Amino acid sequence: MKKILIFLMAASFIGLAANEVMAGGNTLFIQKCGSCHKSGGKAEVINPADKAGRVWQKYFKRGRHPVDTGISDSDMAAIITYLTNHAADSDQPEAAIIPK
Ligand code: HEC
Repeated sequence: MKKILIFLMAASFIGLAANEVMAGGNTLFIQKCGSCHKSGGKAEVINPADKAGRVWQKYFKRGRHPVDTGISDSDMAAIITYLTNHAADSDQPEAAIIPK
């Protein structure tokens, strides 16, 4: 019984942690990418659903982005996870988190 309880507590903690990562990626995307990619910004508005998940996963790794974003590796990893989870081919495509 005790073991089951510990397992359930651990499982709900991991669930919470995963949600935190999601929320973080979402906020980081708006803050970091959105600092340039917004209406009236330096670059055109972008959203996760602009590309398929596997395209987002390769985009920065292959140096496709035209300018240095200045975003740290750990923030970038959280953003890429968020973009992939809400990409065009995901279960929950996000087309308008940054309004056009
Ligand atoms: C320092 C400013 C800056 C930051 C920060 C930045 N970008 Fe960009 N990005 C640009 C510029 C400039 C271009 C090229 C001009 C354009 O496409 O509007 C560009 C182009 C792009 C393109 C190509 C546009 C297209 O139509 O295919 C994508 C995709 C992109 N950025 C994604 C991102 C993502 C995702 C982030 C955050 C991880 C990010 N950018 C952060 C400045 C920035």
